[in-house]
Amino acid sequence: MKKFIVGNFKMNTTTHEFAKYLDKFLPLVKDSKNVVGLSIPYTHLMLASQKLVSTNVVYGSQNISTEEKGAFTGEISNLMVKDLGAYFTLVGHSEIRKKFRETNEQINQKIIRALSVNLKCILCVGETKTERNANKTKQVLKKQLEIALKGLYENELKNIIIAYEPIWAIGTGKMPTVKEIEKTVCDIRQIVLDMFSQKSAEKICVIYGGSVNQNNSANILKIKNLNGLLIGGACLDPVEFANITK
Ligand code: 13P
Repeated sequence: MKKFIVGNFKMNTTTHEFAKYLDKFLPLVKDSKNVVGLSIPYTHLMLASQKLVSTNVVYGSQNISTEEKGAFTGEISNLMVKDLGAYFTLVGHSEIRKKFRETNEQINQKIIRALSVNLKCILCVGETKTERNANKTKQVLKKQLEIALKGLYENELKNIIIAYEPIWAIGTGKMPTVKEIEKTVCDIRQIVLDMFSQKSAEKICVIYGGSVNQNNSANILKIKNLNGLLIGGACLDPVEFANITK
């Protein structure tokens, strides 16, 4: 089974640096058997549309607006991102949930916007350390997923990728054990089963993010019910990221 390995650049690199990155990265991943994705700043989408055409690397944005167009200064819409050839958008990253107080309801609106123009969604969910210590991980994920996926038709789930990113594992060098990730992925599939069906629960793409690097990625990818990885810091080095995709 192909894995979906996505690098999230966050707010890093100028377009010039990104162009240099691609020059190094693309030859290294051209024979990858996995699907490789780049979640890039909006300013890089045009360049990506030129440089990634007819490569095996897909790209997307890190967010979209809840709105399609109009008086929303500073926002970027589903149509604009799609227009530049994006394959996906991230939604609900914990950094946006926290810093911009993004709600599950807004995430739901963004997903509906994305799906309406055929953009796939990488929906990020995850618990804080406090929630984890209080044994509330499943409860938190259930709420995040139930609201984010509200109103979706079952056949739309093929365009949803659930990224399990425990907030306490992001950029900290800490992460759950392989067994714990496996158990949480199971819980996520159970939540999808309760909302939709057994078939959807089995088929939905679930990936893991949080302190993944070239030393621990192979072990995490051995988890049977896991379909890929979402990588932050380690994707900024093209050689390290290419190693992970292998
Ligand atoms: P790190 O890999 O830097 O922990 O970041 C994970 C992340 O937030 C990806 O979206």
